[in-house]
Amino acid sequence: MFAAETLSGSKSDQYAQLLAQARALMHGERDRIANAANLAALVYHGLPGLNWAGFYFFDGRELVVGPFQGLPACVRIPLDKGVCGTAASTGNTQRVADVHEFPGHIACDSASRSEVVVPLFLPGDGSLVGVLDLDSPEPDRFDADDQRGIEAIAQAFVESLA
Ligand code: SME
Repeated sequence: MFAAETLSGSKSDQYAQLLAQARALMHGERDRIANAANLAALVYHGLPGLNWAGFYFFDGRELVVGPFQGLPACVRIPLDKGVCGTAASTGNTQRVADVHEFPGHIACDSASRSEVVVPLFLPGDGSLVGVLDLDSPEPDRFDADDQRGIEAIAQAFVESLA
């Protein structure tokens, strides 16, 4: 049984602990669904102030919802739409302090006020896997330290697929 230790210490300490837990969960496992499902649960329950945490996967045409925690979400997101589509098409993490100010934001859960979306690329050929999306009901929930911590977890996920 996996027992998640409560995160403690400074924010960077907490992200280091979360990353270690993520690596432990994925150890020896390459299955994309299995690792995404466990990471969504780990992140959602480990970080405070989230109302959605999960994955969208690129199917060659658009983003399709994958494993997540939170309310049911939009199934398909075109690459030119929303925060998720922008992260996937630009290759840059989107950290949005107020989703109401983001042109084209897709409101899957009307409670969401801020969001961070990390694009996922395979380490080998650089192909687009999808995105890791975290939403919060709190405005400006994610700072640069959160972004770095979440990007490290996203990187561990794509490395697990190799
Ligand atoms: N808000 C996202 C859509 C996904 S949900 O928040 C789960 C977007 O604008 O891309």
